Amino acid sequence: MNTHSHNKHFDAARHVSGLSQFLDDMTVPEGTLHAAVFYAKTAHAHIRSLNTAPALALEGIHAVLTAKDIRGENQIGGIIPDEQLLADKDIHFWGQPLAIVVAETQVLAREALHLIECDIEALPVITNPREAAAQNLLIMPPRTVQCGNVDEAWAKCDVIVEDKAESGGQEHLYLETQGAFSVPTEGGGVKIVSSTQGPTAVQRTAARVLGLPMHLVEVDTLRLGGGFGGKEDQATPWAVMAALAALATKRAVKLVLPRQEDMRMTGKRHPYSSDFKIGLTRDGKILAFEATIYQDAGAAADLSPGVLDRTLFHCTNSYFIPNVRATGISCKTNVPPNTAFRGFGGPQGMFLIEAAIYRAAEQMGVEASEIQRKNLLRDGDTFAYGQVTERCQAENAWKSADAAFDFANAQKRVAAFNAANLLQKKGIAVQPICFGISFTNTMMNQASALIHVYSDGSVSVSTGAVEMGQGVNTKIAQTAMAVLGVNEETVKVQSTNTSRAANTSPTAASAGADLNGQATKLAAEALRDRLLAVARKELAANENDELVLQNEIVRKNGVNTDLTWKKLVHTAFMQRVKLSEQAQYSTPLIHFDKTTMQGRPFAYHVYGTALIEVTVDCLRGIYEVDSVQVVHDFGQSFNRTVDLGQAEGAIMQGIGWMTMEEVIYAENGRLLTDALSTYKIPDIYAAPKHIDVRFLENSDNPLGLMNSKAVGEPPFMYGIGAYFALMNAMKAFRPDATLLLKAPMSPERVLTELYETVMEIA
Ligand code: MTE
Ligand code: HPA
Ligand code: MOS
Repeated sequence: MNTHSHNKHFDAARHVSGLSQFLDDMTVPEGTLHAAVFYAKTAHAHIRSLNTAPALALEGIHAVLTAKDIRGENQIGGIIPDEQLLADKDIHFWGQPLAIVVAETQVLAREALHLIECDIEALPVITNPREAAAQNLLIMPPRTVQCGNVDEAWAKCDVIVEDKAESGGQEHLYLETQGAFSVPTEGGGVKIVSSTQGPTAVQRTAARVLGLPMHLVEVDTLRLGGGFGGKEDQATPWAVMAALAALATKRAVKLVLPRQEDMRMTGKRHPYSSDFKIGLTRDGKILAFEATIYQDAGAAADLSPGVLDRTLFHCTNSYFIPNVRATGISCKTNVPPNTAFRGFGGPQGMFLIEAAIYRAAEQMGVEASEIQRKNLLRDGDTFAYGQVTERCQAENAWKSADAAFDFANAQKRVAAFNAANLLQKKGIAVQPICFGISFTNTMMNQASALIHVYSDGSVSVSTGAVEMGQGVNTKIAQTAMAVLGVNEETVKVQSTNTSRAANTSPTAASAGADLNGQATKLAAEALRDRLLAVARKELAANENDELVLQNEIVRKNGVNTDLTWKKLVHTAFMQRVKLSEQAQYSTPLIHFDKTTMQGRPFAYHVYGTALIEVTVDCLRGIYEVDSVQVVHDFGQSFNRTVDLGQAEGAIMQGIGWMTMEEVIYAENGRLLTDALSTYKIPDIYAAPKHIDVRFLENSDNPLGLMNSKAVGEPPFMYGIGAYFALMNAMKAFRPDATLLLKAPMSPERVLTELYETVMEIA
């Protein structure tokens, strides 16, 4: 199987030549109407009245739909039923959808938005999670993950440090904004084309809101122009609105959010504010860690409970800590419901423990990397959530990175630079990571594949996986190619469609390729075995002859026969042998008890270690990331190009979160950073000057797809190192200052941190 030579993304040529189709590229039927969403311009209020008549009176407007027009349930909450599709009585966040205008053209629909009148009675607005908690405004009761006995452990600690750490939100900024297209179908149903990570989630919610059985709702997704978690749950409302409009008008309806409305109406990464207490021995062994974690959930639950679980699981990162008590409080505030974003709460948990280690190191007068290294996980160590580490690569990754990049020498070089420069300071940080692979909700770890081999030999693969740029379709195709012994041109991975793959989990948790690839492998293996049985008869081979399919030819005992793939398939077809196969994969071994918060939630963990170096201009507050050097655990990668792309993209996104990306809401709950002029993401100038990602050697992973490891999210968390590298550089400039543990460290904040106390004195 020479699949390892396929080191490319199968969509690459189409992407760069503009031939890839996205939702907005679809040829829509004549007569398609266009929808626009009327949303709240206040963050918390009672609705006194909503007058849509003036909008409806405009020529070319076909419908203005409100909560009253919903035939099923006006409810889109997936985990907790606490969110309406269209608000009827109360508004809970600025940007909350209230009505849908359906018009001949998009321009007309948008014009009509201005004619809708909403009379409200304003209520107090809360945008701070701690304030919400103080008023007992919680999404659900607090959750705690613990092990050992923290209360007893403090007495054994030589050093105890307490402080507060905060990390900010993050806008997904997928290139393709949210959108959907819907058309009514025979028998009162709908077909929805949706830019979603979760076609089944769209189908299920549409059925609920429209009052239809799921079999009357077909959802199709070709590919996304990025999702990053922002379309795991929050692609659903727009799809349901398009379907609602299609059924109401009996016409095809397209609804695509303009960028600014997308930014205003959708949730982001959860901001967190946490209190922590860490206890260590004199020589740097962490004995105890305690944290109270305030999660800013926004105005409804959305995926917050799941995100919070992952925060609790990952708040010890790649360290073994024998006594842990982490309590998570999901706080209800008046901002758009925050949602999944690459790492799914993991990055927030890992930032917290790294902040604690940073403070402890500062107090003890040692490098943080000393403490990090001494506490790395080893085989047999148990996480606070009860899982025992297996095939642990934490120390291997650290040692490989140290061998490749020489941490001590980097330290010396930076110290020498800082001694020689007054206003420019360098900082470095070592950033180990450990990320659990599987949906934290065990039930979701299942996938299916349906493979048809057509009579001409071409192969069609359908799974529940959604391609969003991450290369999952390439990996699925490679899997089918490897098992069936066929070429790239022979395999087509089809759009993701609820009629071909039912009851799918969203493509998320980095597990898309693992789950759907394994299902593909099972289906392909069954087809292969059936076809080889046909070949055995055709070739009059006996039981001892070894038959394999390779390069589209049947090989017998290592020699090509004249039975080609095409001939074999045709023969099987003539013999009425079944040429289709459906398979289901459910991740083995995993389980979790939500009452005790103990179990084995993850199939395996991904590890790695990064060395990050930055230079800060301490006069202007601006900085550069000089380098990110990483040894990352990809397992046995079978597509290094795709995997490297994932690692580099994730690192950039992680650095953006920790440095320049700042989601700011005004006190009245209006999003201030609602355009690309006010919300800054890393561009090529902000990219690290040097990125070197190496593949950790000798990492096997029997539970991964073809021995590989999931790659989508874990490298995001190397970005956390950029924050602490900046802290170290700033510390070199102001050794006396105690810098706040508060991300992002924007250039503006570098300045306020460096000079605020000075200015107070002056
Ligand atoms: N890469 C690209 N190009 N675009 C994306 O939207 N999403 C990330 C990651 N990499 C994303 C991406 C997130 S949040 C996840 S969970 C995984 O891809 C999902 O895909 P996978 O499970 O196939 O890795
Ligand atoms: N990760 C990402 N998305 C999810 C998860 C998870 O663990 N659980 C539910 N959705
Ligand atoms: Mo990714 S946040 O699990 O979609």
